[in-house]
Amino acid sequence: MSKDIVLSGMQSSGKLHLGNLIGALSNWVKLQDKYDCYYFIADWHSLTTGYSDTSFIKESTKDLLVNFLAAGLDPDKCTIFIQSRIIEHAELHLLLSMITPLGWLERVPTYKEKQDELKDKDLNTYGFLGYPLLQTADIIIYRAKYVPVGIDQVPHLEISREIARRFNFLYKEIFPEPEALLTEFPKVVGIDGRKMSKSYDNAIYLSDDPKTVEHKIRTMVTDPARVKKTDPGNPELSPVYQLHKIFSSKEEQEEVAEGCRTARIGCIDCKKILIKNVVKVMEPIWARRNELLNNPELLYSVVEKGNTRARKTANETMVLVREAMGLF
Ligand code: TRP
Repeated sequence: MSKDIVLSGMQSSGKLHLGNLIGALSNWVKLQDKYDCYYFIADWHSLTTGYSDTSFIKESTKDLLVNFLAAGLDPDKCTIFIQSRIIEHAELHLLLSMITPLGWLERVPTYKEKQDELKDKDLNTYGFLGYPLLQTADIIIYRAKYVPVGIDQVPHLEISREIARRFNFLYKEIFPEPEALLTEFPKVVGIDGRKMSKSYDNAIYLSDDPKTVEHKIRTMVTDPARVKKTDPGNPELSPVYQLHKIFSSKEEQEEVAEGCRTARIGCIDCKKILIKNVVKVMEPIWARRNELLNNPELLYSVVEKGNTRARKTANETMVLVREAMGLF
């Protein structure tokens, strides 16, 4: 029996950090054993908001690709590719644009939200309005059943389902309605205690070297009430402890929590344990990153193989689509 198809993508708009690793990539790695997985870098999507300065795209695409592999995506188990190299996505996007009512796109909550959030950018463009439509093409061109994404992407999945339904109704049942695969994962805080994000400048990147990681953790904010080492603290108010909950063993978590409450250990001791454990997770990733960065040939052969495989599936779907829509 053929396996269900899973698809997900990441926009190439910055370097990958620990939040992306814990929140998405680790889950992708698990899914590759159970499903027929397609994972890609959405470089066209990064143009929707970043079109005026595109100098970041190539570097970011490469960083994502290296990290996909370094984190454990196996090109023999899943299909890893780059969106802009599969031009069939653009063809399907165009064809879907013919049947998508403008109101559906205007009503997607992220449309207004992002315009408000990124006030310095002119997002009054056709491409930006079409963001969820391009995302729909990305998904349904592989006839994917599940899309592992964060909760913020649920409205996008909703419109993808509506568009798939509309196509199936107007022409022919070709597309399954894709479902979000929401996974519970702990919120990863950044070094300032807010959500880890490249826009807050508080992230630990997979490309950071050991010294940088150590420095970032050492300078993390802790419970503000603990001014001196002898002041007892509340671990729940410390972002360092939030990270211990993800990276440290149960025993270590208890030890640092108790040590903090009773002022038995200082913040530096607590951070040292965290540094050790974060480094333990990152070490194998760093090792594989170095191998890959020293071997660009390997990197290119992996994407070429993935692109070829993705293109084949996308093409099979497009043959059906062109026929269903009555094109010559
Ligand atoms: N919008 C997604 C994000 O910003 C990236 C993306 C593009 C995507 N196309 C997709 C995710 C298709 C899942 C499926 O993270």
